Amino acid sequence: MFDLGIQGKIAIITGGSDGLGRATAVRLAAEGCKVVICARRAEHLNMAAEAIMEETGGEVLAIPADVAKAEDIDTLVEGTLRRFNGVDIVINNAGKSAAASLEDVDDAAWQEDIDLKIMAAVRLCRRTIPIMRERGGGAIVNAAIVAGKAPPAGALPTSVSRAAGINLTKSLANEYAADKIRVNTVCIGLIKSAQWDRRAGNREVEELYSEMSAKVPLGRVGEAEEYADLVAFLVSERAAYITGTAVNIDGGMSAVV
Ligand SMILES: NC(=O)c1ccc[n+]([C@@H]2O[C@H](COP(=O)([O-])OP(=O)(O)OC[C@H]3O[C@@H](n4cnc5c(N)ncnc54)[C@H](OP(=O)(O)O)[C@@H]3O)[C@@H](O)[C@H]2O)c1
Repeated sequence: MFDLGIQGKIAIITGGSDGLGRATAVRLAAEGCKVVICARRAEHLNMAAEAIMEETGGEVLAIPADVAKAEDIDTLVEGTLRRFNGVDIVINNAGKSAAASLEDVDDAAWQEDIDLKIMAAVRLCRRTIPIMRERGGGAIVNAAIVAGKAPPAGALPTSVSRAAGINLTKSLANEYAADKIRVNTVCIGLIKSAQWDRRAGNREVEELYSEMSAKVPLGRVGEAEEYADLVAFLVSERAAYITGTAVNIDGGMSAVV
């Protein structure tokens, strides 16, 4: 039996109503975690929470929040504490694609990406790490992208903000190791999620996935559940000696390890 040892842990997953975050919420709820999910669209979020509870029999709290707003991070943490009285696990997962060339990205777009992909994690970690410390430890996973390690042309601002996220991971891992708070990054390649359903538009999404597969050495796009498995492992007791890493989950796409 490969027990992850996270039953009863309290986990916040940002962007938990769709795609990779939702798959992670299902996985952690099935492991017996008390799960908090947030996203901006309240109705969609509430429906996701209901569906995850039905599927797993677990406890899932939905808190509408835009993680790019400081006041919403406060709402998220306060709502979690009111219901569960603690936080053990944080998954900074909410995000969206933002890949263009330098001259096509204005200051507002840079700021939006920084708020969503850096400041959201900074603020949520700053609020929850003292809680984890008091509880004797914790685990944080920051979602990033392989371009954060090996930026191609035309991937701004995301490759820069993700590189900062990888640095934030290592900085926090160093700063809080003595408090038994582990911090890791997952660098994502191409994984099935709602963002691709939207991008497919009028086409069948499977057609899009089949085109995308040609870019992947393993010859296919990843499954959201495979991301969830990696995240669940990283926050688990089985990964108790792993901190400060940036693990690629990309079917071999990244040019760097
Ligand atoms: N799937 C991939 O191939 C891939 C590749 C590279 C990186 N990633 C990264 O992986 C993470 C998950 O992506 P995904 O593919 O699962 O996307 P997705 O299917 O579009 O899901 C995104 C989730 O995040 C929420 N969200 C977006 N902006 C938010 C905000 N400002 N505040 C709170 N919640 C927010 C969305 O709900 P609302 O819209 O209701 O807020 C939704 O629940 C993102 O950080 C993404 O950049 C994914």
